[in-house]
Amino acid sequence: MSLLIIAIIAAAIIFAVLIIYFIFFFNFVFLGHNLPTGKEAQGLVEKFLVSNGKTNANFIDLGCATGIFSCALKERFPNLNITAADKDCLRILLAKLRAKLLKRDVNFITKNIFALDVSRADVVYTYLWYSVMPPLEKKLLAELKPGAIVIANESFFPTWRPVKVIDIYPGKNNSERLFIYKK
Ligand SMILES: C[S@@+](CC[C@H](N)C(=O)[O-])C[C@H]1O[C@@H](n2cnc3c(N)ncnc32)[C@H](O)[C@@H]1O
Repeated sequence: MSLLIIAIIAAAIIFAVLIIYFIFFFNFVFLGHNLPTGKEAQGLVEKFLVSNGKTNANFIDLGCATGIFSCALKERFPNLNITAADKDCLRILLAKLRAKLLKRDVNFITKNIFALDVSRADVVYTYLWYSVMPPLEKKLLAELKPGAIVIANESFFPTWRPVKVIDIYPGKNNSERLFIYKK
């Protein structure tokens, strides 16, 4: 009898794990990847914020996925006021869980970035697909306040000229880059 109960519990656990696996698998396939910013790029963003006196600025992570980058940034700069948005509610749920567990005060919101108010942002960060960048360029140029900075990781805007381009892996061929824009 007790063996039967153990077998039922084991089957239930395996079933639950499989369900969770498929939810994440389909989320990834249908809503696109949610790869976080790498450690090297994060280090360069941190260095940029320090050298530009932006460690207590209004910072927006556009397309924050599960919040790994935003939570790490908040740990490094507790006075940075971070708003982080993603259109996928499952990713935001995980981001909120992460923030709660790590005690990081980040404002995670489920929202399409094209519907987000960016007018108060001092610094905007993007690590998005190339297809998003042309309409995003129009939105940011229209809505950002003068002096606001955009740090775009790898995918860049089609016509807006960056004020600085930083190689994430200097010395390597086809290094990924950070593009710095100023409104
Ligand atoms: C590569 S991840 C970047 C994660 C995070 N910013 C980081 O650097 O670690 C891109 C995220 O952007 C989100 N995304 C893409 N287009 C979006 C849109 N129009 N509105 C909101 N989120 C969007 C995707 O759901 C995905 O989670």
